[in-house]
Amino acid sequence: MQIIAFFNLKGGVGKTTSAVNIAWQAANQGIPTLLWDLDPQGAASWLLQRKSKPKAEAKKLLSGKTPIGELVKNTDYPSLDIIPADFSFRQMDLDLAKAGDNKNQLAKLLAPFGESYSLIVLDCPPSFSELTEQMFAAADAIYVPIIPSHLSMRTFEQTRDFFKENNLKPKRLHAFFTMADRRRSLHRVMLAHPPKVLKHGLKTAIPYAAVVEKMGEVRAPLAAFAANSAVNKAYEALWEEIKLTLDTSS
Ligand SMILES: Nc1ncnc2c1ncn2[C@@H]1O[C@H](COP(=O)(O)OP(=O)(O)OP(=O)(O)O)[C@@H](O)[C@H]1O
Ligand SMILES: [Mg+2]
Repeated sequence: MQIIAFFNLKGGVGKTTSAVNIAWQAANQGIPTLLWDLDPQGAASWLLQRKSKPKAEAKKLLSGKTPIGELVKNTDYPSLDIIPADFSFRQMDLDLAKAGDNKNQLAKLLAPFGESYSLIVLDCPPSFSELTEQMFAAADAIYVPIIPSHLSMRTFEQTRDFFKENNLKPKRLHAFFTMADRRRSLHRVMLAHPPKVLKHGLKTAIPYAAVVEKMGEVRAPLAAFAANSAVNKAYEALWEEIKLTLDTSS
């Protein structure tokens, strides 16, 4: 089982859009995939039309009162399951912090899924917190969507520096461009000459496309209603590139 996360300290950069479409791409290839919506905003759950079960309280989950498997729901797509977000997840930071220095709690929670899933996709909230640090410890690879801009680069550097300072192997961090708009000169320049800080970055850039907004209206991954769009094809290519960074054989 491989655990991947879509993370950026910045909000609104395409974490959820990428998590949902990449999870779909994996599942579509028959890879048993579980998407965990860790953001109390619940955008990924909304897009896949699933709500959390009443028992889905973070506290009960962490204390072992609710086994994590009970929170899983299927989706409309074969091989793709989801743990929908629960508003109580906003407390998860406090609950995780109470457990002290153990940074492997999230990894421990996910371990039982090794028998049923080959891929776990985490959709993270736009914050830096105890949950983030636990996610950094649990994930085999972290994918960071970046809108081409200097400020985005700076935010990415902050995350990379955090990895370096905490011996977290920065090689696991893979940035990729999202909402790339070739009509804008800064975007064109950054796509052609990615800054050095992105040296472990992915080559596939996700273009800016109005059809992405429609995901919120149709409440489905792009492949379900815009399979032939350039942006869906870009997600297909991104998944192929992500696979090269992963071992999904176990
Ligand atoms: N490639 C794209 N082209 C156009 N719009 C996009 C693209 N990717 C995402 N969007 C839109 O941008 C908005 C933010 O996307 P998304 O929710 O995926 O970001 P996020 O990083 O998960 O946000 P948050 O930090 O709030 O969790 C959404 O309205 C989404 O439809
Ligand atoms: Mg999101």
